[in-house]
Amino acid sequence: MASFRDFEQTGWERAAEFYGDAFGSLTAQTAEPILDAVNAAPGTQIIDVACGPGYIAAAAAARGASVTGLDFSSAMVAEARRRWPALTFREGDAEALPFQPSSIDAVVMNFGLLHLARPDTALAEAFRVLRPGGRYAFTVWAAPERTVGFGMTLRAIEEFGNKNVPLPEGPPFFRFSDRVETRSTLAAIGFTDIMIQELPLVWRVASADQVFDAMCKGGVRTAAVLRAQTPEALSAIGAAVRRQVEGYARGGGFALPMPAVLASCRKG
Ligand SMILES: C[S@@+](CC[C@H](N)C(=O)[O-])C[C@H]1O[C@@H](n2cnc3c(N)ncnc32)[C@H](O)[C@@H]1O
Repeated sequence: MASFRDFEQTGWERAAEFYGDAFGSLTAQTAEPILDAVNAAPGTQIIDVACGPGYIAAAAAARGASVTGLDFSSAMVAEARRRWPALTFREGDAEALPFQPSSIDAVVMNFGLLHLARPDTALAEAFRVLRPGGRYAFTVWAAPERTVGFGMTLRAIEEFGNKNVPLPEGPPFFRFSDRVETRSTLAAIGFTDIMIQELPLVWRVASADQVFDAMCKGGVRTAAVLRAQTPEALSAIGAAVRRQVEGYARGGGFALPMPAVLASCRKG
């Protein structure tokens, strides 16, 4: 079986063309809070790690920051360059950042940490490349009981399908949703001024199909579990997700609470 890292990388190459439509309107909602958390201002040198289509990089550039977006998926980097041709995007690994020690003002990672094989290594890498006093911030999803789009999909898989699909084993998806775990991990690396807050994101979709489609095509781990279901189970899971989305009707569409956790800290 492929390593978890290879599984994720292959998965993102496949998901890159769907990801923006699937999740972009949701994940881009954290752009201003995550940039505020690292004091992004004109001239700040920022790395947007696991940048995907480049939403945070683009918002940083709009503030006048000097930003590089980095992602290990060539398809994601191509997608980011297509959207923001004037900005700098490059291929690279969050777990081995291609930057000199103590050289960067700010590092951000928006919904990237939960996809990494070795998140502790990525946090240590951010610490290494930051200059003393530089700031780091990341977001992850709140626990699935609260992020209703994930919760309803995982419940539907349990009820109508097979959740024990053999996949390369990776770290727990919701590890850093836990404030105590996040705080102690950042402190152990040497970060100070650790702040953790919840961001009340809302996933607005026009049709009840959109959530299940996003889960099938826009990500990696859940999409792989869904692809492994029998056609009958997949259809029952899809119907169950659609029924649940209909409970969140708002203004002609649907609005699902999807809170995120924003953690920020300083080097030294
Ligand atoms: C959920 S997407 C987040 C994209 C974007 N930051 C956003 O907020 O929408 C996760 C991204 O992490 C990237 N990624 C996963 N593991 C990585 C790694 N080890 N190094 C660099 N990028 C990675 C994926 O290619 C994907 O683009």
